[in-house]
Parts: sequence; structure tokens; C-alpha cells
Amino acid sequence: MIQQFDLKKEYAILEDEIQNELKKVFSKTNFIGGENVVSIENNIAKYIGTKYAISCNSGTDALHFSLKSLDIGKGDEVITTPFTFISTIEAIMYLGAKPVFADIELGSYNIDKNEILKKINKKTKAIIPVHLFGNPFDVKNLIKDINDSSIKIIEDCAQSFGSGIYCQRVGSIGDTGCFSFYPTKNLGCYGDGGMITTNSEEAYNVIRKLKNHGSSKRYHHDTIGYNSRLDEIQAAILNVKLKYIDQYNMMRVKIANIYNDNLSDIENIFTPKKTDYGHHVYHQYTISSNIRDKIMKKLEKNSIGSAIYYPVSLEKQKAFKEVYNDKTIYKNSNYLSSSCLSLPIYPHLPEDEVHKICEVIKNIK
Ligand SMILES: Cc1ncc(COP(=O)(O)O)c(C=O)c1O
Repeated sequence: MIQQFDLKKEYAILEDEIQNELKKVFSKTNFIGGENVVSIENNIAKYIGTKYAISCNSGTDALHFSLKSLDIGKGDEVITTPFTFISTIEAIMYLGAKPVFADIELGSYNIDKNEILKKINKKTKAIIPVHLFGNPFDVKNLIKDINDSSIKIIEDCAQSFGSGIYCQRVGSIGDTGCFSFYPTKNLGCYGDGGMITTNSEEAYNVIRKLKNHGSSKRYHHDTIGYNSRLDEIQAAILNVKLKYIDQYNMMRVKIANIYNDNLSDIENIFTPKKTDYGHHVYHQYTISSNIRDKIMKKLEKNSIGSAIYYPVSLEKQKAFKEVYNDKTIYKNSNYLSSSCLSLPIYPHLPEDEVHKICEVIKNIK
């Protein structure tokens, strides 16, 4: 069976190194707020190119805390994409703000800048572009066109660790960058974890307190906060895996290139668009096709996994509809929900298996 995603090979390669680090953590028994947490924050700030990186418990918390630190609240509108994981809009809704959708581009699967510009009004306080599937959205160009620094930009980098635009890493361009370390992510830990990157001292100070019960000094609480700490075990694993992120992202690119070479000319199949300004890190390799279900079944028959990210455009989700009942049709987002298919991709997927997957798809009549 070729899985759509598999961590076992990676773990087998990194096992000794990870176990060594875990032994040190267990012998020190410093499970919360230990030295690995401090160093992963420093290492990620350095890697992304921001002054600060603040760890937390998940990508969802990273988005939530970012919005709160930028003073987004009741009555504010936040523009984002309807073609993403639910967390992006959950974070907005936790604060009583309103998610406003702007449709996506079909080629890149990312939010369409021109659609964003149409949705901006006096209530717009922030925009959350998602660098979906590892394909970076051109945040720089958006910021230039908006030309209004009162509209905050929160980059959802959950699926794009290591990706960049114009030689700058995603997560360093907007007001904050939000990362998830969910195990399947390009940089994933072995549980839940998240990180916020920022150059803003103000946002840094707010988020530092928010993630730790509203306190900067033990048992002194300035605000009501949350328990959202990255633990030492996850931080130790991330410190090991961070050393390999560029190599592993390149292995993903290599696999994506094999898919591109083999599938681009097939009638009925659209392969993901690379941009000339960005470095795509292929968190997913997602095609779209009007015979999507047939392809999925054929792959399954040949013991090849695949997945649909995302089967429902967010404006149609019950949780959203019950609150806002947005009747707009986000045509491209809906089209992709019915036609997208993510093929197997992970750094240690053997190339001959990628070729086999391509052959199965090529032979679909
Ligand atoms: C685009 C996007 N944003 C946010 C998140 C939330 O991350 P987490 O699962 O760590 O809360 C995810 C995770 O799947 C995601 O894919």
C-alpha cells in the first residue's frame, strides 16, 4: 500500500537522534518551559527571519492569539479564503469578528488578490492569506496594493514551513506568521504544537502573556489568558527536525516535479501552478480533475492512498452557515471542492512509487 502520507520512514532515519534528545529531556524532567522550548523559539525566529517567535499549543491558537494581539474583535471584518482548513475562520469567530470570504484562484488554489481588494471596506481590520498546500501567496504585492497599514496581515503558514516569496520566508512579511506543527505538516512534531512569528514587540508582549494564563511573572496575571504551551518533548523533536527541513522540502519538490512531468499533459487533469516569485514546498501535491472520483477509485484499487482537501467550501459548513448564512457562491472554491485530489507526497516517498502512481493515472480510460 502506498499511503497518502507516511511518517514511519522518516522516524526510522531520525530515531537515534530523536531518542537521544528525548532521553535528555526525561532525565532532566523539565517537561514545561525547558531549554528546548527556548531554543526552538530562537531557532525558528532566526530561520524565518523575524525578531520574535513565540511557541504555543497549535496553529489554531497561533491564529487566535495573533488576531487578539492585533486588537481584532467584535464587529471587525477579517478577509480570508473559503478554501482552507476550518481553523482559519474559527480563530476569527472566537473573537466575535466576522470572516469575509474572497474567492480563490484556480491555478494556485490561493486566495485571489483582486477578490480581496473588492471586499475591503471600513470594517475590514485584517486579512488572513493562507499559503495553501505549501504554495506561497504574494503577500508583498497585496500589502503594496492595499497601501493601508491599519489593515493587519496575518499569514497562515500552517502548511508552508520553509516556503518563501522573493527570497523572503513566509511568516516574516505580514504582521504575524502562524505555524502549525501537527505531525503531518512539513515541520511537524509528534503531537500538537504551534508558533507565531513577528517583528512587532507589542504583539510579542501580548502573545507571550496570552499563551500563559495572562501572566509575565509567575502567579501575577494581567489579563485572562489561556494554557497554550509547547511542551519540552515536542520542542526537542522540532529542534532535531528543523535541521532537516530544507533537505526534506527539496525532496518534496523533487517528487512534485516527477508528478508535473508526467501529469501536466494529460487531458482532464490540472496540475498545481508554480509561481515565478515563490518557493513552493508542496505540503500537498493537489491536482484537479472533472473525473476526480474515478481517479480516486482507480488509485484505491491499486492500493494507492489519496485525499480530498477540502470537500466543502467553508461558506457551506454548518458551523458557519448557522451564524452568517452567506449566500454568495464562491465559484472557484466550490469547483475545487468537487474536483481536487491530493496525491501521495512526503519526503521519503520512493521515486519509483511516484512513477507507479503516475502510470496508474495515465492509464485511466
Ligand atoms: C491552513 C491551516 N491553518 C491552520 C491550521 C491549524 O493548525 P492546528 O491543527 O495545529 O491547530 C491548519 C491545520 O491543519 C491548517 O491546515
